[in-house]
Amino acid sequence: MRGMYAALRPLLFTLPPEFAHKLALAALRGFGAMPASAPPPGSGIELLGLRFPNRIGLAAGLDKDATAAAGLAKLGFGFLEVGTVTPRPQPGNPKPRLFRLNEDHALINRMGFNSAGASALAANLRRVRDCIDVPVGVNIGKNRDTPVEVAADDYRACLAATYDVADYVAVNLSSPNTPGLRDLQAADVARALVGELVVERQRLADAHAEKTPVPPLFVKIAPDLAPDDLEATVAEASRAGADGIMATNTTVSRPTSLRSKRAVEEGGLSGRPLFALALEAVRRTRDAAGTGPVVVGVGGVASPDDAAAMFDAGADLVQVYSALVFEGPGLVARLVGGS
Ligand SMILES: Cc1cc2nc3c(=O)[nH]c(=O)nc-3n(C[C@H](O)[C@H](O)[C@H](O)COP(=O)(O)O)c2cc1C
Repeated sequence: MRGMYAALRPLLFTLPPEFAHKLALAALRGFGAMPASAPPPGSGIELLGLRFPNRIGLAAGLDKDATAAAGLAKLGFGFLEVGTVTPRPQPGNPKPRLFRLNEDHALINRMGFNSAGASALAANLRRVRDCIDVPVGVNIGKNRDTPVEVAADDYRACLAATYDVADYVAVNLSSPNTPGLRDLQAADVARALVGELVVERQRLADAHAEKTPVPPLFVKIAPDLAPDDLEATVAEASRAGADGIMATNTTVSRPTSLRSKRAVEEGGLSGRPLFALALEAVRRTRDAAGTGPVVVGVGGVASPDDAAAMFDAGADLVQVYSALVFEGPGLVARLVGGS
């Protein structure tokens, strides 16, 4: 598969990145409709009442509306995360808003939560849920025009709309492309928000007693938090009832190592240059969280060695996105094989 993707890549890279992404999703939808293939590889692990066939997952943002989840599951991931979804549909930022930094094996995006809305995502997922045999998490956010002061209403609405189809929920407090969103990471704000979502989840659990386990709540943080702030946010979110932390989202920083002329684009940087920052954030997150909460390491993972470093730093699970663009779908099997 590596050879095939290596052959196709120069052609794919002549296309505008968002168009190439659309093509890939269409191909995955076709793949998803084909008869079932082998069961997901790996020896498996049970966490928070969920059975993960392996510890390598797809990070949020590739399948924002859950239109290709069945095809993605067939790539061998141990879990998938769809979204970020917002309560109401919204178009996201003007294009172009996704850039490849080929020399750096990195991407910059300022998508801005383009979303079909939470009910549409839930309906898409309901249609395919039975043919996906790995946990599927839903990553939730707020609409751009919702004032930050009432952001909790949006997160609650997303949680309610997707509760029956989500195996876990990731509360995205860290995308850099929605003004004010990252302010929700302030420790006291995050504590209050997680507290409200825990209450809402209990209300939903009472109304959907048949659904077990109750979906765990993860909080996704940025790699740009100062160490003290990261520690405070992780501690408070955990105290308020978060079951896990995802570290990290994209960075607004621009490491001096970047060589691509696209490095000047505004937005969140992901891929290889993010790895060191994300790894450090995972280490600090594990220190601050203690042994209880589940830690998901994400950012720049592109090889089995990278994944192993994330696990050594304290991650229970690892996710990937950008490296799939540079390495192709065969990366999943290589990561699973080495993990
Ligand atoms: C094009 C693109 C869109 C993304 N959209 C989201 C999103 O909607 N929600 C989210 O939590 N993270 C989003 N991310 C961040 C990824 O989930 C991940 O945290 C980040 O890219 C670091 O992992 P990577 O280096 O393996 O890509 C996006 C990343 C990219 C490249």
